[in-house]
Amino acid sequence: MNRIVKKTQLSENVFRMTINAPQIAEKREAGQFVVIMTEEKGERIPLTIVDSDRDEGTVTIIFQVVGKTTMCLAAMKKGEDLFAVLGPLGMPTEMEDFGTSVVVGGGVGIGVAYPIIKALKEAGNKVIAIIGARTKDILILEDEIREVCDRLIVSTDDGSYGVHGFVTDVLKDLIDSGETINRAFAIGPVPMMKFLCEVTRPYNIKTIVSLNPIMVDATGMCGACRVSVGGKTKFACVDGPEFNGHDVDFNLLMNRLRMYNVEEEEARKGCKCHE
Ligand SMILES: Cc1cc2nc3c(=O)[nH]c(=O)nc-3n(C[C@H](O)[C@H](O)[C@H](O)COP(=O)(O)OP(=O)(O)OC[C@H]3O[C@@H](n4cnc5c(N)ncnc54)[C@H](O)[C@@H]3O)c2cc1C
Ligand code: FES
Repeated sequence: MNRIVKKTQLSENVFRMTINAPQIAEKREAGQFVVIMTEEKGERIPLTIVDSDRDEGTVTIIFQVVGKTTMCLAAMKKGEDLFAVLGPLGMPTEMEDFGTSVVVGGGVGIGVAYPIIKALKEAGNKVIAIIGARTKDILILEDEIREVCDRLIVSTDDGSYGVHGFVTDVLKDLIDSGETINRAFAIGPVPMMKFLCEVTRPYNIKTIVSLNPIMVDATGMCGACRVSVGGKTKFACVDGPEFNGHDVDFNLLMNRLRMYNVEEEEARKGCKCHE
């Protein structure tokens, strides 16, 4: 059992939770994730480890409520126990001093970007973070990210805060301004990652993306998380979740993410967690 030691709401549908998981806190590295089960017969969902505290024996996750299991997780309170937290899973982010690294986070992907930004800075990089959201009210972690990077650019789609426009436009402007970028990271909704890779491709800027295919066992056995990278089949849970974005077949990923839409909608409607 893993106890919830802290829970805060970051925006209408996004929550941060700190969970007691000493063995995971001891070993985890940037880019890795946990699989969470809220109850014995529940679904297993993958969530990125956003932060950890070895002394306290805790890990922190940030999640957006999108369906049944994230609804159930959001309904849980401080002091309650999760049925299981498994990890750390996945390959850690390849980390070195690349020179200047740009990390782009969109929506709840900003939470996934945070540990990468922090680790890049610790590895000696000059880190430029670009974070974006549809509107100001759902923008998360601005202060935390400002603290761990060299430069932060914020954008909103509706212009309610920061630069008016998409993170793709901000990155394009940054490149056009003559900034040398040695490595880029893109984390967020699949279309955002796809278009960001098209921005960096002509400039040959290696761009790492963090993929979020549906996962079941998360140990490389079931094949649910298969993605196509450079024409080869990879399992995101053990080979990823990070890959060279210029080689990823994003259309296949988007199709596979829609595979269980009907079942997910039924599960969402039948969910009684909030009652
Ligand atoms: C490695 C990895 C790290 C992730 N990290 C985060 C994170 O830090 N924060 C966060 O909010 N989300 C993260 N996700 C996505 C998160 O796992 C899904 O939002 C969650 O599983 C949805 O479960 P649900 O039952 O609430 O929704 P469902 O009703 O099951 O699904 C709603 C939507 O989420 C997608 N989805 C469903 N099941 C999965 C699954 N097992 N894996 C991925 N996507 C799924 C579906 O395409 C669907 O559109 C991550 C996914 C992966 C693969
Ligand atoms: S989730 Fe089963 S192989 Fe990756």
